[in-house]
Amino acid sequence: MKKITLITLALAFNALALTPEAEKGKTAIAACMACHNAELSPALAPPFYGVQNKYKQAFSDKDMFVQAISDWAKNPSLEKSLMKRPVKKLGLMPAMPLPDEMLAQIGAYLYEEEFEPPCTHWANDLKNSTGSQAQGRGKEMGQGKGHGRGMGQGGNHDAMIRMKYNQLCK
Ligand code: HEC
Repeated sequence: MKKITLITLALAFNALALTPEAEKGKTAIAACMACHNAELSPALAPPFYGVQNKYKQAFSDKDMFVQAISDWAKNPSLEKSLMKRPVKKLGLMPAMPLPDEMLAQIGAYLYEEEFEPPCTHWANDLKNSTGSQAQGRGKEMGQGKGHGRGMGQGGNHDAMIRMKYNQLCK
């Protein structure tokens, strides 16, 4: 009887608290925050709020998610990238070859944390959207066929950000 109460308590608690692994990741992720700080303007990297969303869509299983984060940090590549727009705007992330144990902790933290919506980042994004679209188009023209697609994506992206901003930040 006691045991069951304890397990129930542990489960209820678990929904709120980070696992010890993720708790360590919360400290270790300082190594990533120089760029992934959502308050930076101009942004140097996508906020982890969006990174988590993307990676959870692709890897719903926690082990796969953690593995993907770890693989990415050791060796970022265009083929592996799930965030094409940030890559285009900011360039590919440099490798962060931290020890495996640390990357697993960071991965666990990225999976478990409930990040605040990056309202400042979104607001800046919307404020700068006209300029960045023009920039994106210029770059894409250099690569060839991307002209029309770039404009369309820019528009959809802005509309999506505006919707999220209105829903979560006002
Ligand atoms: C020097 C700046 C910098 C640091 C430090 C940095 N990142 Fe990044 N990160 C970026 C940029 C820029 C992007 C967006 C471009 C890209 O995806 O390559 C990015 C994107 C990502 C993505 C999404 C990749 C994709 O395109 O699918 C993940 C995951 C990520 N970072 C994890 C980390 C982790 C974990 C750390 C710390 C171990 C870290 N980053 C440290 C700059 C940085």
